[in-house]
Amino acid sequence: MASTTRTAALLLLLLLLQQSSVFSWKKEEFRNCNQTPFCKRARSRKPGSSNLVVTDVSINDGDLTAKLQPKNAGEAKEEQDEVVKPLILKLSAYQDGILRLKIDEDPSLDPPKKRFEVPDVVLPLFDEKKLWLQRVSTEVLDGDSAPSSIVYLSEAYEGVVRHDPFEVYVRKKGGDRVLSLNSHGLFDFEQLRKKKEDEDWEERFRSHTDTRPYGPQSISFDVSFYGANFVYGIPEHATSLALKATRGPGVEFSEPYRLFNLDVFEYLHDSPFGIYGSIPYMLSHGKAHGTSGFFWLNAAEMQIDVLGTGWDSESGIVLPSSQGRIDTLWMSEAGIVDAFFFVGPGPKDVMRQYASVTGTLAMQQFFATGYHQCRWNYRDEEDVEQVDSKFDEFDIPYDVIWLDIEHTDGKRYLTWDRAAFPHPEEMQNKLAAKGRHMVTIADPHIKRDESFYLHKEATQKGFYVKDATGKDFDGWCWPGASSYPDTLNPEIRSWWAEKFSFKNYVGSTPILYIWNDMNEPSVFNGPELTMPRDALHYGGVEHRELHNAYGYYFHMATSDGLLKRADGKDRPFVLSRSFFAGSQRNGAVWTGDNTADWDQFRVSVPMVLTLSLTGISFSGADVGGFFGNPEPELLVRWYQLGAYYPFFRGHAHHDTKRREPWLFGERNTELIREAIHIRYTLLPYFYTLFRQANTSGIPVVRPLWMEFPEDEATFNNDEAFMVGNSLLVQGIYTENAKHASVYLPGGQSWYDLRTGITYKGGVTHNLEVSEESIPAFQKAGTIIPRKDRSRRSSTQMVNDPYTLVIALNGSLAAEGELYVDDGKSFSFEQGAYMHRRFVFSDGKLTSSNIAPPASGKALFTSECVIERIIILGLSGAKSALVESANYRVDIESGPLNLRGRGSSAVLTIRKPNVRIKDDWTIKIL
Ligand SMILES: *[C@@H]1O[C@H](CO)[C@@H](O)[C@H](O)[C@H]1NC(C)=O
Ligand SMILES: *[C@@H]1O[C@H](CO)[C@@H](O)[C@H](O)[C@H]1NC(C)=O
Repeated sequence: MASTTRTAALLLLLLLLQQSSVFSWKKEEFRNCNQTPFCKRARSRKPGSSNLVVTDVSINDGDLTAKLQPKNAGEAKEEQDEVVKPLILKLSAYQDGILRLKIDEDPSLDPPKKRFEVPDVVLPLFDEKKLWLQRVSTEVLDGDSAPSSIVYLSEAYEGVVRHDPFEVYVRKKGGDRVLSLNSHGLFDFEQLRKKKEDEDWEERFRSHTDTRPYGPQSISFDVSFYGANFVYGIPEHATSLALKATRGPGVEFSEPYRLFNLDVFEYLHDSPFGIYGSIPYMLSHGKAHGTSGFFWLNAAEMQIDVLGTGWDSESGIVLPSSQGRIDTLWMSEAGIVDAFFFVGPGPKDVMRQYASVTGTLAMQQFFATGYHQCRWNYRDEEDVEQVDSKFDEFDIPYDVIWLDIEHTDGKRYLTWDRAAFPHPEEMQNKLAAKGRHMVTIADPHIKRDESFYLHKEATQKGFYVKDATGKDFDGWCWPGASSYPDTLNPEIRSWWAEKFSFKNYVGSTPILYIWNDMNEPSVFNGPELTMPRDALHYGGVEHRELHNAYGYYFHMATSDGLLKRADGKDRPFVLSRSFFAGSQRNGAVWTGDNTADWDQFRVSVPMVLTLSLTGISFSGADVGGFFGNPEPELLVRWYQLGAYYPFFRGHAHHDTKRREPWLFGERNTELIREAIHIRYTLLPYFYTLFRQANTSGIPVVRPLWMEFPEDEATFNNDEAFMVGNSLLVQGIYTENAKHASVYLPGGQSWYDLRTGITYKGGVTHNLEVSEESIPAFQKAGTIIPRKDRSRRSSTQMVNDPYTLVIALNGSLAAEGELYVDDGKSFSFEQGAYMHRRFVFSDGKLTSSNIAPPASGKALFTSECVIERIIILGLSGAKSALVESANYRVDIESGPLNLRGRGSSAVLTIRKPNVRIKDDWTIKIL
């Protein structure tokens, strides 16, 4: 008896232990700020402690240059045991309101080592935007005792360098500040130096020792945003869209936001802890100024504090226009200061300004905007064939089936497990016949196996990252002992890229694309599950200096590989877990290994929106949640929302139950089919938005405030989002929801996407919800192009006719766009595309061309017609006249919803049969 009780108690204990290990993030495996000396030092510094002054201001090569040194440096020299060398400051102005500030050690004073500057992130073309400074004016500005140098930035803005104490800021000409650096005197720059005899530079964490051969080299400073209600950005964290204060009275997070790319097992749903990718770019938005942005191009570990009101109550520093000012503290372990200030003032201005530095989204193939079906793992060819045919059987469209790590021969990437996948080409050809595609995984850890060609070559050529002693770094990952190609080096990137040729990647066909996982890089036995900071890269660069960009270079090399493979003819598709500023040029990103619960589902929206704000337009979260088994209701809600993520993929861990869309009973299959079908009907709209992201940097999905910058109620709303400028989507994040309160912004009204019923803008509506759908609305004044016929995959929709949905506003007007190209090649870059504008006003719908004339040989054309025009917000009309052809078509009036519900103010023009390539006008009679 006693022993049974004990056994039961033991079992219970074991169960509890297991539970807690399943559900808890292993906090102790990761460093906090206090365990990170540079962070602890920077955080303990007092406002006003930086005593730097600016001297020797001059103009060189169109830039302002100066020296930055301690005040009274000359006098103090005698007593100090060490001379503090002056730093070099360079300030440059660029078109469209961009100021760049660089601060580094003076190379002419023989620093022990050149500090790392992150290459291949800033676009080569950015230099052409430089405004060559001719002169600086030096003035003593209001209330200062020392002079400032002022540089022209644009008609409306100027950059200012205050000499004593040192400060850099951007302001409206002669007026209010927008952004400033070192206003609180927290600037600190640890210069490289010789080690003193009694010094110990090593750092220990758990069982790991970081040799730190170059000693302390961190940089920190404060940045202030003016006229701001909130700050946003700096992914990747699982947390709210508007960032929370991390210091000051009564803060919720006590750790700074950490930017350090890590493979975090079961990340928490609300935490400032850094996960897979990093973009050191913050935006602010507010009523008073609008939007501004600050980007620090630095790839070392960074920690960023958002300083809450009252954080500096004892400092005595008083800044101008403190109303609506948000202060932040930026701390990095290494590198240089290379900072960009973006003045905005509109949200879309800032998106364009940031895109002019780091680039826009690479234009994607049409298929990539459809639904992706993934699982760890589809076991073998039969499994793939089964899953593929079930999609047809259940009439659910999908475009891509994915193979995770198990498809390889013993985790040797770019090989096949020939027992499970004996005929990979044949398998792909069958998919190709249905217009579908396949993605296989290729991670950066290469199995250390003498008989594996990739390992043999990389070893012989010396292409691996080295450990601190100079030997090939040897770490533990999926295949066991592994090494990592040093893709910082362009030559090694080009070697890796070659491996994707059809000849080298045996068993690959043109419909095969790639997925990069574990590229933080993940190293199971490394410190914090990554590579040691003292590992060495090409050019003697320490891993600590480039850590956050490792995944970026690997993603870039893979994307280049797919480009080379196709002789530069087809657009690559590569999904990456890790990312850095500029990753939008390499492809897609997803939010990593999330969990099947409602909180993680909810946080996927601010995570995707934050990525969108920081340039990564093509992102999504694993639908259903990677870890754990979602309740069918959660899975259905996730499909309903995920259908509006830019990147739409279902994925699951190998310990989870199978969860293909048809496994949860007829009703749930029907609901998931409907969700995926909605995505497919909207593909023409999505693709138009992808092109917009490609040309302008304005993301596909947007926080509400990007479209309604004046509407304060939107500023911290992260439950709803805009798809383009026309659709608002609100998730349902609770079980059994019967109601949802949805805020609809702006002065115009909104049309329910399903029923056509109108709702007033500027009001929070308490709406009834059912299992059938989540709230989604079309903004009055917009036109959305759709394709409503259900097909197996996006590629089979190419010749299908369009539906236009016109949502009229108060002046019975609306407008919208449609972009179409071949969905695959680069000929759009020579002008082979169609770009149409639809305008409805004065009872007439017109279609006109807005593409510039195609330059010469490359042409794109399409015979697609418009089969239906739905007009929301109009009633009574009986027929319409297609003016150019002079024929009449009938107008039906009636509800939008097939089930017979919905608004009565809906008209449908059937079969106007005008082609999208033509100019035409249709007049409502
Ligand atoms: C758009 O995408 C293409 C193809 O990925 C890329 O070459 C181009 O730089 C992108 N940006 C613009 C502005 O076209
Ligand atoms: C209605 O929409 C048109 C087209 O987008 C726009 O020009 C017009 O200002 C809008 N009118 C109102 C009252 O919102």
